[in-house]
Amino acid sequence: MSYAVKTIGVLTSGGDAPGMNAAIRAVVRTGISCGLNIKGIRHGFAGLLEEDIIDMNNLSVSDIIQLGGTILYTARCLEFKKKEYQEKGAEICRKHGIDGVVVIGGDGSFNGASRLAENGINTVGVPGTIDLDIACTEYTIGFDTAINTAMEAIDKLRDTSESHERCSIVEVMGRTAGHIALWTGIASGAEYILTTEKYHGDIQRIIGKILDRRRLGKKNHIIVNAEGVGSSTEMAKLIELATGIETRATVLGHIQRGGNPTCKDRVYASALGTKAVELLCEGKTNRIVGYRGGEFVDFDIQEALSMTKDLDPYLFHITHKLTTK
Ligand code: ADP
Ligand code: F6P
Repeated sequence: MSYAVKTIGVLTSGGDAPGMNAAIRAVVRTGISCGLNIKGIRHGFAGLLEEDIIDMNNLSVSDIIQLGGTILYTARCLEFKKKEYQEKGAEICRKHGIDGVVVIGGDGSFNGASRLAENGINTVGVPGTIDLDIACTEYTIGFDTAINTAMEAIDKLRDTSESHERCSIVEVMGRTAGHIALWTGIASGAEYILTTEKYHGDIQRIIGKILDRRRLGKKNHIIVNAEGVGSSTEMAKLIELATGIETRATVLGHIQRGGNPTCKDRVYASALGTKAVELLCEGKTNRIVGYRGGEFVDFDIQEALSMTKDLDPYLFHITHKLTTK
């Protein structure tokens, strides 16, 4: 059978996410099963501009499905926002015979993918970010692993917080999005979940509630704070001063980006990587694959980037029902 592409490149871009390796593996193995040549472009768009390009085969992706990080390395490359470098990137693809590229990353990376498409290289984006902040899809690679990592850390913090009868503020990642905070807050039984989408700086209200609950006999208080909301350390100082309750801030940071991907991240990343190659084989370009309404789907990149996404309203609703009154 003959396909619209003969040689495809695969790259990872932006922040890494557990499950990216499973997606790379799926791209390589699906491509090879279709008789395509596969090139790994290392270090994202920066590596493309430096022609850091390697041949890949089935063996190159053996024993990686269980690994966090990305074997192709990743980078942020500001140059690629400029037209001249986008043209150069497309030219380098042509020089290496690459007529299709799979870009695994977030919204920023999809902008880069779209620019490559404009310059004549067929591209498909695969959503890879722990933040879950890509509007067209209900799933992004790495989110599931990241929330499990954060949840386990918060469980541990609760032990020490309870022993010392303290208040604990846990800062989770998410850039400007609160999905990680919402999920881990619910899963760890947090009293408060502060997200950029819903929290508008009313610290006095939180202080009042902490005092009420302390009077009712609550011995520890867990607040999950999304990184976009602001400094957890400053918030801890304010709470301690106002309540007299010892308060500690813990920023979970980059541990949320590492570790072995969960089963869900491995399986969904595998499906999305396969779908991306199938689209390239059909001659599709400027698309993003995703998961929505129980199906693996794809969208035009511009259409996908113009979509917006809020926190899951029902999950937000239940947060008010589940805390101590
Ligand atoms: P993410 O893909 O996780 O959103 P970034 O926003 O950091 O991460 O974007 C990753 C990379 O994608 C950038 O370093 C750059 O190389 C490329 N990129 C981002 N925005 C654009 C753009 N507007 N045009 C072209 N390339 C872009
Ligand atoms: O987009 C993933 C993410 O981990 C965000 O949650 C966070 O704000 C950012 O990347 C951190 O980026 P860096 O690795 O450059 O510090």
